Amino acid sequence: MNTYKAKIDVKINHLEVDKTAFEIVKNQLTHKQDSVLILPTGGTQIGWYKLIVEAYKNREVDFEKATIFNLDEYYPLNKNNPSSYYSYMRRNLIDHVNIKPENWHIPNCEAETSEEAVSEYQNLLNQQKQIDLAVLGIGPAATCHIGFNEQGSDENSKTRYVILDEQTSFANSVYFENEKDMPKGAITMGISDILKAGKIILLAKGREKAWGVQRSVLGPINNEAPASHLRFHPEVTFILDQEAASLL
Ligand code: PGA
Repeated sequence: MNTYKAKIDVKINHLEVDKTAFEIVKNQLTHKQDSVLILPTGGTQIGWYKLIVEAYKNREVDFEKATIFNLDEYYPLNKNNPSSYYSYMRRNLIDHVNIKPENWHIPNCEAETSEEAVSEYQNLLNQQKQIDLAVLGIGPAATCHIGFNEQGSDENSKTRYVILDEQTSFANSVYFENEKDMPKGAITMGISDILKAGKIILLAKGREKAWGVQRSVLGPINNEAPASHLRFHPEVTFILDQEAASLL
């Protein structure tokens, strides 16, 4: 596989990161109404979701023909738990825009077995002729994860059940009212699924992401830094605030 230099777009602050991501998603949906998007969850993304919901209310953007695939979901979990990614997506986007219910996909955290959830999701992904845009975050500390592709994930990885890295569990436990409710595992889209997107943007904010960004953009491409595999893709842009870019 060829490797490429990731594009870097450094913004003056986190609000400009939000605006840039918002414009990219809005332009994608404007130029191709039936766009297929891979979308993330996480604290980093909330700002641009707010902007796109506002734009929808102002009739500047339309989800009528769009399709959304979420990157990942905890497993097992009650989907109505406020900390599920199902709930996050409803709260931050789905309940506020006109996406058709049948066009929004997220791994089923209530499936009887993880194998069932994985095969259902991989089949849905395999049916897509084209994925237009993937929006990503990057994991905490040294994980450099994308989706829940933790350290050790390779570029050929597919949708699967994973055990969360300790650093991920620690960082994400703040989102669970009761820490012990947090699942030990998750279903994540694989890196090979993400690399199928026509265009990829990764957003990172704050100094705590600076090391992972530097490792992924400038370090060797290998499984120690799953986000480094994004450099197998010709159209990847890291959109960073100054803190996240501070080690570049
Ligand atoms: P965050 O999560 O946006 O809450 O930092 C990102 C991630 O874990 O991928």
